[in-house]
Amino acid sequence: MEEAIVVEELTRRFGRFVAVDHVSFSIVRGEVFGFLGPNGSGKSTTIRMLCGLLMPSEGRGWVAGWDIYTEAERIKAHIGYMSQKFSLYEDLTVGENLEFYGGIYGVPPRRLRARRAEILDRAGLRGQERVLTRHLSVGWKQRLALGCALVHEPRIVFLDEPTSGVDPLSRRLFWAWIDELAAQGVTVFVTTHIMDEAEHCDRVALLSEGHLAALDTPEGLKAQAGVETMEEAFIALVGTPFSSPRGRGDRGRSGG
Ligand SMILES: Nc1ncnc2c1ncn2[C@@H]1O[C@H](COP(=O)(O)OP(=O)(O)OP(=O)(O)O)[C@@H](O)[C@H]1O
Ligand SMILES: [Mg+2]
Repeated sequence: MEEAIVVEELTRRFGRFVAVDHVSFSIVRGEVFGFLGPNGSGKSTTIRMLCGLLMPSEGRGWVAGWDIYTEAERIKAHIGYMSQKFSLYEDLTVGENLEFYGGIYGVPPRRLRARRAEILDRAGLRGQERVLTRHLSVGWKQRLALGCALVHEPRIVFLDEPTSGVDPLSRRLFWAWIDELAAQGVTVFVTTHIMDEAEHCDRVALLSEGHLAALDTPEGLKAQAGVETMEEAFIALVGTPFSSPRGRGDRGRSGG
């Protein structure tokens, strides 16, 4: 199996506070990897390190084979990233946002025209190209933001709480799109606080206060916790010490 993302003992401190604490995992190509954990557990911080936007304090990591310390620029150019706040330009139209992101990612003009059309169709935004982004509802913004993250056809996408504040139907459409990407071999790293979305992932990592509390399939997590639902598994496993396969028994909770 080809590994899309590998991290070993990844750590990030802010002053004396340890936001991400010796986290290790690997993700194979085409996997939908759910990243769960309470507010402030270090999910976005991990994503920012993997996207080449934030330097780790310690540990190692590779995204698409590139080193997160020395090849961050290559990583940034080749992955898709949908930030927690959907980084859309509200005063640009739908079409202009796609063109803007295509430009940033250096998509050649002819290819960009084709991608723009494909994405408008896939997102259900055809006919709304000239609508100002600020006038879109959250569900539409979400699909536009995913479209912008995919404009350069990345092989790995990071989606940070892409469905927060989005209605159930929009969420279902969004996850159908994620499934399609995974079927095409795109690796999807997604954070969510919504348990039915966690069920939808191939594997789920559970972060707790910066450290990895559990990592398994949704079924595996429920079995591990001896419970019936993901919500119960989440509550049971957050706070449970965990030894990764690469394991270190002496995982220190430094800073506290
Ligand atoms: N630049 C920073 N400086 C200081 N502390 C930070 C910084 N960025 C994040 N933190 C802290 O690190 C911790 C982890 O934050 P992070 O945003 O990664 O959490 P999260 O799991 O994404 O939470 P949420 O579910 O609320 O999005 C938090 O306590 C946060 O306040
Ligand atoms: Mg976050």
